[in-house]
Amino acid sequence: MAVTTELGKQTQLTEVAGILLQTATVGNWSQIQNFEAKPDDLLICTYPKSGTTWIQEIVDLIEQNGDVEKCQRALIQHRHPFIEWARPPQPSARNAKDCMVSYYHFQRMNQMLPDPGTWDDYFETFISGKVGWGSWFDHVKGWWEMKDRYQILFLFYEDIKKDPKHEIQKVIQFMGKNLDETVLDKIVQETSFEKMKENPMTNRSTIPKSILDQSISPFMRKGTVGDWKNHFTVAQNERFDEIYRKKMEGTSINFCMEL
Ligand code: A3P
Repeated sequence: MAVTTELGKQTQLTEVAGILLQTATVGNWSQIQNFEAKPDDLLICTYPKSGTTWIQEIVDLIEQNGDVEKCQRALIQHRHPFIEWARPPQPSARNAKDCMVSYYHFQRMNQMLPDPGTWDDYFETFISGKVGWGSWFDHVKGWWEMKDRYQILFLFYEDIKKDPKHEIQKVIQFMGKNLDETVLDKIVQETSFEKMKENPMTNRSTIPKSILDQSISPFMRKGTVGDWKNHFTVAQNERFDEIYRKKMEGTSINFCMEL
């Protein structure tokens, strides 16, 4: 099912198993779903706008600086926990409020996604899960509950922000690599927000304006924890906390909301 905006323009989201996905993704759906990773592959799985590009860059740099004979493929996906997959991933998550803010600005600038409308409109869209890759709650809770059943390293955006060296070390260890301190420090520097914002390989400046209009909002936007405070009204915050409490009830996951 394709959804339409009130303007009648076809938005680029199509439903699969009750979850909205970008129509381009759905076109290759059986190929994507039946994809079989090799035992050594590293699958990076995030809810959109949770630092996918950041983790990818960290993994790429570890790979480039690690021992050559142990090369791994790193594959990035937003795969949803409620859709059946051939192989489990390595998830990472970001607190829901900052994720909503980041997704809102991304939908404003991404011409391939539906216009998010006003912030107030988007607030409703996000909490109802009617965004690409579905509900943040289902995605994050789903993978969190699965993390002990597979070989999974679950990372938090806020932890990487707070102590990048420590979190990058965890990834290095998880990947079974050995890197000396100087290389580790270099990776920390190269993957800072400021460096990645300048780097054409990570700032998406090579993507045409007709797809990503960075004059509306840059892809490397703010890279902070707690920007939700600049967007949520007091009433929205109270309502969100209540919804969060209900939806995440019974889960042990804990997010840092500000640094
Ligand atoms: P903001 O919109 O809050 O700035 P994704 O790669 O999953 O699309 O996530 C994008 C978000 O991650 C954006 O958040 C982006 O700025 C942030 N990000 C990317 N690289 C980062 C880095 N090195 N440090 C901090 N945040 C980063």
